[in-house]
Amino acid sequence: MKYKLEEAAPLPGAAGGAALDDPGFSAAVIGWQKEHGRHVLPWQNTRDAYLIWLSEIMLQQTQVAAVLGYYARFLTRFPTLRDLAAAPVEDVMAQWSGLGYYTRARNLHKCAQRVVAEYDGVFPSDPALLAELPGIGRSTAAAISAFSSGTRAAIMDGNVKRVFARVFGIATYPGEKKTEQAMWRRAEALLPLQGIESYTQGLMDLGATLCTRSSPSCERCPLQARCVAHATGRTKDLPVRKPKKASPEKHATMLVIVDAGQVLLEQRPDAGIWGGLLSLPELDGHTPADDGHVAAADHAALTLAVGRHGTLESHERLSTITHVFTHYKLHIAPYRVTLSRRLHAAAEAGHVWYDQARLADAPLPAPIKKLLLELLGDGAAAQARMF
Ligand code: ADE
Ligand code: SF4
Repeated sequence: MKYKLEEAAPLPGAAGGAALDDPGFSAAVIGWQKEHGRHVLPWQNTRDAYLIWLSEIMLQQTQVAAVLGYYARFLTRFPTLRDLAAAPVEDVMAQWSGLGYYTRARNLHKCAQRVVAEYDGVFPSDPALLAELPGIGRSTAAAISAFSSGTRAAIMDGNVKRVFARVFGIATYPGEKKTEQAMWRRAEALLPLQGIESYTQGLMDLGATLCTRSSPSCERCPLQARCVAHATGRTKDLPVRKPKKASPEKHATMLVIVDAGQVLLEQRPDAGIWGGLLSLPELDGHTPADDGHVAAADHAALTLAVGRHGTLESHERLSTITHVFTHYKLHIAPYRVTLSRRLHAAAEAGHVWYDQARLADAPLPAPIKKLLLELLGDGAAAQARMF
């Protein structure tokens, strides 16, 4: 069945309205597709929904060149939808092996069985019904429906998002819900009254062959005259990349307790960052104001923490170092502490008095080793020995 105009947005989130927005847009895409698009792919020039569905699933996360061989072999093994539905899932997986994203294969098999059971082996033409089947999202449903029955429905895959972001100068991230919904509304409004097959294939071909991610061929593009990115020299900036989450900032106060040519190190728990390595003892739950001097509370906490190991003689706040992890930043406020008296001959459990001269070979996290070597390493040690 053909959609009437006011039904052109059959799926949730789509705009209801149907005023055709810029008919020149689809005309340009269709004209270009007929002249320069792809016409001899094995899933083209057919209205067989099985052949079209299979190609669209294989093409979801895989490029045409990689799909071609699999597509042909798959159809030799499963010539019809009923063959596929009747096959053991292991056989389907075996045929898919190497294509990747194996959920697609499991869903493909489930989908075949549901179409046989619920639709007597004939895919529905309504994209809303197609989109309820396993592995078929809104865009894939629209493509299958357009190619197999000429239904006016909008596609919106990664390639189309890129073309839309550039042509319409959409400078927000397309993965963001609002932006994506706005793109769907535009896509609905731009659908041609006729030639949905060429238009749909044209958008795909344009995104895949002309309006490529890193070097679009604007000089050959049928949309150049209406392309905001081209006109404003922003093809490199559009679509905008996924915004990086501001990485959380964490703080740690670390103690560099030195005594008799040794520094006190602490064994890290096996789990968590720096698991199993030695590191500096830390002051719990302490976030010093970064003002360069020790506040009264710091002094009390410091005395308490150091007290397990000896009697605090002097302390000095060293400059903060920042270490950037993948998911957060760690600001380390180190305090250099000297003892007037060591409490125990041996270190407390989980701690070790480590010879400063051996620090270069110690199992320490890189930023801690760097800090200690700058502070106490060869040069510093040599200097200390002169006194
Ligand atoms: N990618 C997704 N669908 C496609 C199609 N029908 N032709 C080429 N590439 C595609
Ligand atoms: Fe893409 Fe360039 Fe065409 Fe704009 S003019 S749609 S950037 S290829």
